[in-house]
Amino acid sequence: MPDPRLTGPLPRRRVRLKGAGHVLTCSGPERGALTSWEQLGCLTGAELVIRHELRGGWLLEWLGPAGSLEQPHADATIDLGGRLLLPGLVDCHTHAVFAGDRSAEFVQRLNGKSYAEIAEGGGGILHTVGKTRAASVPELVEAAAPRLLQMAEWGVRVVECKTGYGLDLASEVKILQAIAALRERFSGTLRLVSTAMPAHAVPPEFKANPDRYVALVCEQILPAMRAADPELAFVDVFVEKGYFGVQQAERIAETAEELGLPVKAHVDEFADLGGVAWAVERGAASVEHLLQTSDKSVQMLANSGTVAVGLPLTSVFLREPYAPLRQLVDAGALVAVATDCNPGSAMTTNLVLAMQMAVLGAKLSPQEALRGATRCAALALREPGGYRGRLAVGEPFVATVLDLDGVDRLFYELGQGPRASRVLVDAGVT
Ligand code: NIG
Ligand code: FE
Repeated sequence: MPDPRLTGPLPRRRVRLKGAGHVLTCSGPERGALTSWEQLGCLTGAELVIRHELRGGWLLEWLGPAGSLEQPHADATIDLGGRLLLPGLVDCHTHAVFAGDRSAEFVQRLNGKSYAEIAEGGGGILHTVGKTRAASVPELVEAAAPRLLQMAEWGVRVVECKTGYGLDLASEVKILQAIAALRERFSGTLRLVSTAMPAHAVPPEFKANPDRYVALVCEQILPAMRAADPELAFVDVFVEKGYFGVQQAERIAETAEELGLPVKAHVDEFADLGGVAWAVERGAASVEHLLQTSDKSVQMLANSGTVAVGLPLTSVFLREPYAPLRQLVDAGALVAVATDCNPGSAMTTNLVLAMQMAVLGAKLSPQEALRGATRCAALALREPGGYRGRLAVGEPFVATVLDLDGVDRLFYELGQGPRASRVLVDAGVT
């Protein structure tokens, strides 16, 4: 018997999960139309055995019918009480770390001013940049923490956080420091994936010479960000009229490659600058927004491993059209769904509502939308920590339990919930 003073209490190594009303595995096909829960992977009467990994986290060791003789022995059991068990939701596109708010601009837009007009007048992203530059790391952490908490309550277990409201070396690094502090604070509840986005807008001091800013991003800002955050996972760039062109994006992508970081790109939000063709050719992890995406670009995405990320709440918030998510799925593209949580174009933390609007607005099926916030969202983040956005034997077990007795109610109860149950968290399975 090892001395408990040296080893601490023996951890529960194996836990059996019983009593789930439904288990949605999301381990069906990654591409193509889905019309039933069975296609996505929906089991009734199933039990799971998960194993605690020595280096942290849990692994799904066994999944099968209740009462099976093959079920491995477990040293604890959790009864899910008829609730719905599904893979932890992944919000693969957020700008959740920022200071200030833009409600005044929201009202201006409702009165007819466009997002572009507000940006040209020095508002928009640059407004938030001013507030964020003036904030300390603790202030940024306190501003973002309630947003992340809300995300966790919607069932999100992995969230991507972009920088991009600093736009100078010190401020971009400061946002990464805030993300690192939040990563620590939410450890066990949320995994935070950080993305460097100093190419979110041209800062006012470089207005007359944007190429000089791109050079600064490549020569100094990105290398410093890489050094500041060992967990930095991606570089993102806003390819858009009035922001960055494809050539500038290419220059940034070359630097990202030198730093060993995959690229993401905001493309076709207001104007089609050829961003999809460039990103697909570059082997980008994902392209986001896609409101103005052409049929040709849809085909290019269908024949690529680049994930198309739909952000339907941005369309609602900006009163813009939806991205062609239906066409993308039908053509065979990988399609994810995320919130875009940010103060200017989607002031929301609600990934469930984003899935609902992907269905009601952009015409995905519920199964396609849920795949978009689990399996395909994990692909857009290149499977962080080995989590593949699905429940499959031999893979990391990252799960959400929802207080729902039927799967369809996840989409039927518009804007309501359900809220994630704490049953796993309270049992120490996080
Ligand atoms: O994803 N499009 C660029 N960035 C954000 C908006 C940022 C802002 O308005 O603050 C987006 O929509
Ligand atoms: Fe965005």
